[in-house]
Amino acid sequence: MLRARITGTGSALPDKILTNADLERMVETNDEWITSRTGIRQRRIAVEGEYTSTFAVAAAQRALEMSGANVDEIDLIILGTVTPDFPFPSTACIIQHEIGAHNAAVFDLSAACSGFVYGLSIADRFISSGKAKKALVIGAEVLSRIVDWSDRNTCILFGDGAGAAVVEAYEGDGGILSTHIFSNGSFWETLYLPGCGSRNPASQQHTIDERLFFLKMEGNDVFKHAVRAMEEAASAALTANGISPDNISLFIPHQANRRIIDATSKRLGLGEDKVFVNLHNYGNTSAASIPIALDEANRSGRMKAGDIILLTAFGGGFTYGSALMRW
Ligand code: UT7
Repeated sequence: MLRARITGTGSALPDKILTNADLERMVETNDEWITSRTGIRQRRIAVEGEYTSTFAVAAAQRALEMSGANVDEIDLIILGTVTPDFPFPSTACIIQHEIGAHNAAVFDLSAACSGFVYGLSIADRFISSGKAKKALVIGAEVLSRIVDWSDRNTCILFGDGAGAAVVEAYEGDGGILSTHIFSNGSFWETLYLPGCGSRNPASQQHTIDERLFFLKMEGNDVFKHAVRAMEEAASAALTANGISPDNISLFIPHQANRRIIDATSKRLGLGEDKVFVNLHNYGNTSAASIPIALDEANRSGRMKAGDIILLTAFGGGFTYGSALMRW
């Protein structure tokens, strides 16, 4: 059976670290509140001259190196991001140019924090139908440029970085076993960026003075939906493959909030030893969170051949989804 499987992973993060103690000097907050409510201790922040493409290119090159794939063989590049270098052209075009993947069709995908799982789902469909052979799926963000650093409700949560995976066609019964993607547009205003689009084009009085070019979030609403949606997406994967939580070797959820991860894992009956968490180091990096975690789990030997790996995402839109793989 023709399937898609991940043959290489990579990630790239800014060197600059912003700790909770640093944030205490910027807004009315404290390390105890941030750690107990979110689990986040520090995040990486891009400096001048670093963009979303900077980290995406580095992560893609590391994934290519691990996979051994020749860049000329890449025929599809999908970038999940809400912080592209520019509204257009797609940042995927910039990445294509920088890594020299001249034979690829490329595009950006807007599914907020679910961008990587959405991208993996599309790559899986292209590859398992024989329409592509080697894809790069990337999640990359520089959220620090759309975060309101005077809003303590949101600025403590987010970080920058990128993760990537090379996804290849192969004949076998492992690799990507299923992907499920969902959306619920009724909640689009719960987490969004009001400015910079066709509704609120740039103007000094409107978008700038009213701070519309910073992301807005109803944290409590997002929290409740995140737990339910990630459980639904994970259950869809388990049901479709006729497996129970006991069969899962490693669960890699979107890294938004430790309490969301714990509540989702508990509902699914997954013990802490099966759950990958790195958000204490990076905060919520949106579309980059799952591929960064996947790369760390891969390079640290947390995933062995034959292991069943479950990825689950949730983000603005709302969008959510899951991917189940035999490693
Ligand atoms: O990637 C997907 C999208 N994002 C998410 O999944 C995030 C989902 N939401 C969350 O993670 C949580 O809702 C937050 C971490 C954002 C907030 O946690 P919470 O437990 O829901 O807190 P809250 O918003 O109910 O605020 C509780 C209190 C409030 O004070 P009062 O009204 O009780 O006096 C806030 O003003 O905590 C206050 N507060 C803070 N205090 C210190 C809010 N932010 C801070 C802060 N430091 N940074």
